[in-house]
Amino acid sequence: MGLTSDEIIINGGRPLRGRIEVRGAKNLAPKAMVAALLGKTPSTLRNVPNVSDIRVVAGLLALHGVLITRGEDPGEWRFDPSNVEVAHHADIDAHAGSSRIPILFCGPLLHRLGEAFIPDLGGCRIGDRPIDFHLDALRKFGAVVEKLPSGISLTAPDGLHGANIELPYPSVGATEQVLLTSVLAKGQTELRNAAIEPEIIDLICILQKMGAIITVEPNRVIFVEGVEELRGYDHHAIFDRNEVASWASAALATGGDVFVGGAQQEEMMTFLNVFRKVGGDFEVRDDGIRFWHPGGELKPVTIETDVHPGFMTDWQQPLVVALTQAQGVSTIHETVYENRFGFTDALNKMGADIQVFKDGLHDEQRRVNRREFEQAAVIAGPTPLSGAEIEVPDLRGGFSYLIAGLTAEGQTKVTNLGIISRGYENFIEKLRQLGADFIFEG
Ligand code: EPZ
Repeated sequence: MGLTSDEIIINGGRPLRGRIEVRGAKNLAPKAMVAALLGKTPSTLRNVPNVSDIRVVAGLLALHGVLITRGEDPGEWRFDPSNVEVAHHADIDAHAGSSRIPILFCGPLLHRLGEAFIPDLGGCRIGDRPIDFHLDALRKFGAVVEKLPSGISLTAPDGLHGANIELPYPSVGATEQVLLTSVLAKGQTELRNAAIEPEIIDLICILQKMGAIITVEPNRVIFVEGVEELRGYDHHAIFDRNEVASWASAALATGGDVFVGGAQQEEMMTFLNVFRKVGGDFEVRDDGIRFWHPGGELKPVTIETDVHPGFMTDWQQPLVVALTQAQGVSTIHETVYENRFGFTDALNKMGADIQVFKDGLHDEQRRVNRREFEQAAVIAGPTPLSGAEIEVPDLRGGFSYLIAGLTAEGQTKVTNLGIISRGYENFIEKLRQLGADFIFEG
């Protein structure tokens, strides 16, 4: 067939059935690795997923002198930050464009070395993804920020001190930036309009284990009392909610029955409600959640993506494919990123009927007042999908293409697979475990 390792041909129309395991969250584990820089003693992180963001951050930590060793379990990583040192800009630059996580090195490196150099960031092209909230916060802590052609150079001539920060939007990354900087800053920090996603709370648990004093107050306010010193941590990373939602959507779209080991109900509640409304069924067990299509029609839904505990923006792409098979018209209002429906073009090529409205559907009562960030997708179903050749545009849109190929009649060739491995550990093996019919020569 002559496929490259970045391509897969899926023979659709077969339900996914079986059990897979989901490990630590891609959106927590790399941040926990950065937090290890803050400790005076080594840290151990368990349940680490085998995804490319982990390898990028491990490479950057090693560049800065962190000694990284692996435990017997492939999910166990150890970080010894005893000899943190300045890294050469050229070496750091080699990691430019591969991830968004490097921006979180700022606070820890400023505390350890008094300086930091951050390469240009990567991450999915789902919007402009500025870092103004991050840089504004760092300046309030006393950092001097200089934008260079190749990245950002920061210094802290007088050290870092506590700050009063109010985020214009509950940004996950900016909240992590403030957490990782405030814990060793002199004095107190108050962060208003903070993000409180489960991955953020898990990072706060890690920092508390290290000796930090962090209070999550009502109304998204986080209060941090800076301490003199932090020690290493031993932590089992929270499971990946986004991966669970993706496999659940795949079970629904293909009429299948998938047990996702490692999934927990509490962090998935909003998704579980929507899954049930669309017509799926689920069973919560101690070691995971079983998701299945009980038969009958799928029903249309209207969803607005939001910050936690709302419906996560990362959950909508995989679910859209299931909604193309629902009996009626569904609406997804995306309020977090300004360009997260690009993936729907390829689905329409396969037979879906999805219209994207750039300025969203106006609603005076809507919580989000960022109209320039809002768009809506209107999905009319059911529309049988037929195979096509499609290229992965971003992480979650890419996984939705796998689901579309599994759902469509005939063959679908999905290219540019590498992006999917940024956030889905061993997804080819998991497709095999669930009985998918495909050709992969990677
Ligand atoms: C994290 O991205 C996740 N990535 C995203 O997951 C997730 O979609 C997002 O949080 C929201 O939950 C990681 O954790 C690695 P934000 P992050 O800062 O931190 C704007 C996935 O598929 N903003 O909460 O980059 C921004 O443009 C990925 O796993 C600013 O304007 O997201 C966006 O509109 C995709 N200025 C909104 O805030 C800033 O300085 C939310 O972004 C920072 C953000």
